[in-house]
Amino acid sequence: MFKKAVDVLTKGGLVVFPTETVYGLGADATNDRAVASIFEKKGRPQFNPLIAHCLDIQMALKYVDMDETAIQLLNTFSPGPLTLVCRRKKNCDISLLASAGLDTLAIRIPNNPIALSLIRDFGRPIVAPSANKSGRISPTTAEHVRADYPEDCPLILDGGTCEVGLESTIILTTTKPMTILRYGGLDVREIEKVTGPLQSLLTNENAPQSPGQLKSHYAPSLPLKMNQQNRVNNWAYLGFGEMDGDLNLSPTGDLKEAAANLFAMMHQLDQPIYEGILVAPIPNEGLGLAINDRLKRASYERGK
Ligand code: TXA
Ligand code: MG
Repeated sequence: MFKKAVDVLTKGGLVVFPTETVYGLGADATNDRAVASIFEKKGRPQFNPLIAHCLDIQMALKYVDMDETAIQLLNTFSPGPLTLVCRRKKNCDISLLASAGLDTLAIRIPNNPIALSLIRDFGRPIVAPSANKSGRISPTTAEHVRADYPEDCPLILDGGTCEVGLESTIILTTTKPMTILRYGGLDVREIEKVTGPLQSLLTNENAPQSPGQLKSHYAPSLPLKMNQQNRVNNWAYLGFGEMDGDLNLSPTGDLKEAAANLFAMMHQLDQPIYEGILVAPIPNEGLGLAINDRLKRASYERGK
């Protein structure tokens, strides 16, 4: 039944699917380029980490470590509107772009038969942000999604109206106590019956999408300078297009390939044998906006 959608995912394409919260824009979680095209499609000028949608706890445990409390949370509330941010396993082959370069990965088991059948038939996690275009509200019907992509709408699995209509509640499980990252469709008081009191970095319950307050993005430990035309001794050079270097984000100057490679290559060059990392100029258009945003924050934090 889901053959066409599975084909699209296998080829690195995008599929919109319903969950109990909102519609998601899904891609093969293990395919860097497919994950990059999610950001391209949404027109999102930033790389936020994404949620990997799993069939069940067994599937999630292939990719992340969970302590007993985290497993108990999933046993109690999944499938359902709960997302857990957990430490990636050492051999986790989910795209680093989906984690925005972090060593954590958000996982959730959606309570929707279409979503679950799609994940089961595909056989591995599907990463998906809400399917809206950047800056628009999250879609709770297939119609909302079509309205956001009038000309180039991806394949949609229409599951009618999402019954929760609010995004999942997000809990960071790697802190003690665990931390609320986003209030959502599952009441935090229910969660606290399992975990005990949680901490929150949010100032109030109406705070927008949270993780801004948290160090939720990877920054290299070496100083980083963007827009660099020239190489410097002892500094690593991350090239782009004709500006070749120790590594090249995309020798052909393809921004989707560059986005797919960005975090993995920053990690690769972030080694003490170098004094810092220089990055070639990246055109400030399309996915280049998100790449430059990420590079700017990686350098800005050090006052450069
Ligand atoms: O209900 C939902 O959660 C929907 C459906 C489609 O599952 N998805 C959704 O995804 O709302 P998105 O991308 O719009 O929001 C995911 C949130 C973002 O705020 C992101 O920063 C946070 O989850 N997040 C994901 N991975 C994270 C991580 N490793 N650490 C911290 N925050 C993370
Ligand atoms: Mg969203």
